[in-house]
Amino acid sequence: MNIGVFGLGYVGVVNVACMYKNGYKVFCTDVKSQKVQSILEGRSPIKEPDVEEIIREGVEAKGIVPTLEAPVVVANADVLLFCVGTPSKADGEVNLSFVKNVLSEVLQFLDKNDEKWLIFRSTVPPGTTEMLKQQFLDKLFPNVKILFYPEFLREGSAVKDFFNYGRCVIGSDFQDIPDKIINLLHVNKERPLFITNFRTAEFSKYVDNSFHALKVVFANEIFRLGSGLGIDVKKAGEIFVSDTKLNISSKYLKPGMPYGGSCLPKDVREIQHLMHQQNLDLHILKNIIPSNDAFIEAIYQKILSVRVKKVSFVGITFKNNSDDLRESPILKMAERLSASGFEIKIWDEDLNLSTMRIDFPHLYLSIKEFSECISQTELIIVSKRYLNKVKESAPEKVSVINLSDEIDSPFMNLY
Ligand SMILES: NC(=O)c1ccc[n+]([C@@H]2O[C@H](COP(=O)([O-])OP(=O)(O)OC[C@H]3O[C@@H](n4cnc5c(N)ncnc54)[C@H](O)[C@@H]3O)[C@@H](O)[C@H]2O)c1
Repeated sequence: MNIGVFGLGYVGVVNVACMYKNGYKVFCTDVKSQKVQSILEGRSPIKEPDVEEIIREGVEAKGIVPTLEAPVVVANADVLLFCVGTPSKADGEVNLSFVKNVLSEVLQFLDKNDEKWLIFRSTVPPGTTEMLKQQFLDKLFPNVKILFYPEFLREGSAVKDFFNYGRCVIGSDFQDIPDKIINLLHVNKERPLFITNFRTAEFSKYVDNSFHALKVVFANEIFRLGSGLGIDVKKAGEIFVSDTKLNISSKYLKPGMPYGGSCLPKDVREIQHLMHQQNLDLHILKNIIPSNDAFIEAIYQKILSVRVKKVSFVGITFKNNSDDLRESPILKMAERLSASGFEIKIWDEDLNLSTMRIDFPHLYLSIKEFSECISQTELIIVSKRYLNKVKESAPEKVSVINLSDEIDSPFMNLY
């Protein structure tokens, strides 16, 4: 199986080198002739550890074939990898013209019945691969298969990352991708492989990169705040990352309820206070509370949009296996709805009834049996661990808003 690579920038060159290293013959091209010329001479057009040696070896062995002729790449390759740029336009939207151009160029050289694999590596917004497939391929080239295969390499360690990535993601609109293609793309069998639809694969790259950017900004902000408080910032950083249970872990990283409880709200408020004391304007830190409040408001508006008057809350304490109601966002919502004349029912097996009777007397009478909450209502808001319990018992006509961290598409939820 031969590979063709379009685009010889940071991603394309590394893919050329690493696919060759994995035993494939690789044809490659770029619209910039100097990049093709550089590879022809056995030199890498980009600075990246290990790449130049592999390129030189590959060109000498005729396992890497650079050419200015796109039709040569198309004719010789079974799998075409598109690694062209997707820069931002002035308004921030991604510019897809390089992707569209390269695809329409390649299609000129394909015969109607050609069986090729076209694989997109460029970072593109969700919906792009579907759009390209429908617009350019579906009717004209029925035997061409499309995949989206996001690239996760980091410049400076790209070759290492190619062979030792966090996980491999493949976006596809069919199930049975042949082993030869999986083996080409998923080179490190010790790492997880996710085969998903195009949109989810496309989005995964944006989830990663926005999180990486957030980590940088968060670390800069919180430790800048700390340095003004006489803190040993290096030690504080070590202490933070050494906790791989709650900090550097998947904890708190699932979509679900807004945060609440006895600690996060009050401690984040103190961070605001320290920031003001030091006259620091730290944008991520100062927007934590507004972001959480905006999410609570979005849920509230979602409830109103269902246009019902009887609402049940299944799960009301701020998290699983705790009876703490302090700053429970769901409790706040129930209070607000109750004050606006909604008929509220509440069930939660973690509830402490005496706390409820003393601290929230106006909601105490709303506490009902689970069966009543489920049957005598028009809308159920599920939080915590109760989604399955609700799914098993809720009548079909009752709407459900799922705030637990089990996202379940047949049920109406916010996501
Ligand atoms: N650079 C990274 O570390 C990195 C990592 C992961 C993903 N990505 C994504 O991969 C994509 C490529 O990134 P890059 O940094 O390699 O970009 P780049 O700008 O370095 O390279 C793109 C190359 O494509 C070429 N090109 C454009 N149109 C072409 C055509 N019709 N035919 C042949 N070649 C053509 C350009 O001349 C250029 O050399 C982007 O979508 C980027 O977001 C980049």
